Amino acid sequence: MEQHDVVDVIRTKRDGGRLDAGQIDWVIDAYTRGGVADEQMAALAMAILLNGMDRAEISRWTTAMIASGERMDFSALSRPTADKHSTGGVGDKITLPLAPLVAACGVAVPQLSGRGLGHTGGTLDKLEAIPGWRAALSNDEMLRQLEEVGAVICAAGDGLAPADKKLYALRDVTGTVEAIPLIASSIMSKKIAEGTGSLVLDVKVGSGAFMKELDDARELAATMVALGHDAGVPTVALVTDMATPLGLTAGNGVEVAESVEVLAGGGPADVVELTVALAREMLAGAGRDDVDPADVLASGRAMDVWRQMIRAQGGDPDAAMPTPRETQVVTAPSSGVLTELDALSVGVAAWRLGAGRARKEDPVQAAAGVTWHARPGDEVVAGAPLFTLQTDTPERLPRALEALEGGYEIAPAGTTYQPSPLVIDRIS
Ligand code: URA
Repeated sequence: MEQHDVVDVIRTKRDGGRLDAGQIDWVIDAYTRGGVADEQMAALAMAILLNGMDRAEISRWTTAMIASGERMDFSALSRPTADKHSTGGVGDKITLPLAPLVAACGVAVPQLSGRGLGHTGGTLDKLEAIPGWRAALSNDEMLRQLEEVGAVICAAGDGLAPADKKLYALRDVTGTVEAIPLIASSIMSKKIAEGTGSLVLDVKVGSGAFMKELDDARELAATMVALGHDAGVPTVALVTDMATPLGLTAGNGVEVAESVEVLAGGGPADVVELTVALAREMLAGAGRDDVDPADVLASGRAMDVWRQMIRAQGGDPDAAMPTPRETQVVTAPSSGVLTELDALSVGVAAWRLGAGRARKEDPVQAAAGVTWHARPGDEVVAGAPLFTLQTDTPERLPRALEALEGGYEIAPAGTTYQPSPLVIDRIS
């Protein structure tokens, strides 16, 4: 590999220039090996945040991060593979019913998931509410489960895109997370290295999401779709609403219980709608658009796969979800129509109750979370339960209640409520 001077690389981007392929390959490799210091990479990340990168630079940056580690290969499986990635939201439990549903439709789902940080939940934290369930699998175990069950949701191993692991931790503490080129390359390097045959992205927009503005969400979606195409992975993005939280629950065990309801043929309509919409896209990407996921969900076959998937990773699918030490009910202050439920307020409340973590090393509470008893458009009655808060540490309740104040609006009875679409855009 050609050698470069790191200060020259930083100056190029600082002055609004473009990095060439040799500079990008070198700086990612040297940073991963420790030859470029954290403060130098932080300066470069800030220059990228301020001055951006063009499509060729982002593509090369992504390729270099993939090359920093191993690349998994599922081509030996007897069925095609498809994966989904969500940019993260509140009450976003969709992966839980989606992975077994798509597997029940004949497409294998290798889902490498993460843990929650801040107010957005993490899929692994939710599944760990199931007694015995384990997130860490070896590559061989993952491959075997994909062949035998068809779906696996597990933690990414250390060997996958190590450059991104190091860089993401650095961005987190240097105010450089919010750069679209860096977010897109971070997500796509892991998804491409994971070896999925096709990919569907759920890019969230609204108060509870990373991207608060629709234009930014569209740009992030288009950038990631282009990176997928550049890497030869058919990729589609749905831009979906995260101004309102999904379903009726945010937390860990409570979201598992809601997902099981969806697999049993019930559950909140928005969770079912998004699960089926994403399943359709995943099946189309894998060349199986002859199968209707709504029919498969109704047949109960996705529930069978869910049970196998949980059992294969040591979990007991029949175990009750953990019960919290303390529960508090918030009642509606007036009667009328619920016209707003703010995703960020609900997410922060669940986080403060102990469902999420402030630092990567913090534990989470399996029983902590928020359940809301009405969705926007529903009628509410003064004095009837509006929220139920759960926690093992009651001293957390006042701060969680504070987060919910001003997080909802009740308009007089008879007010017409205009629902906004859940799927806002599709980018391919
Ligand atoms: N998720 C990631 O994996 N990386 C980012 O940069 C942002 C969200």
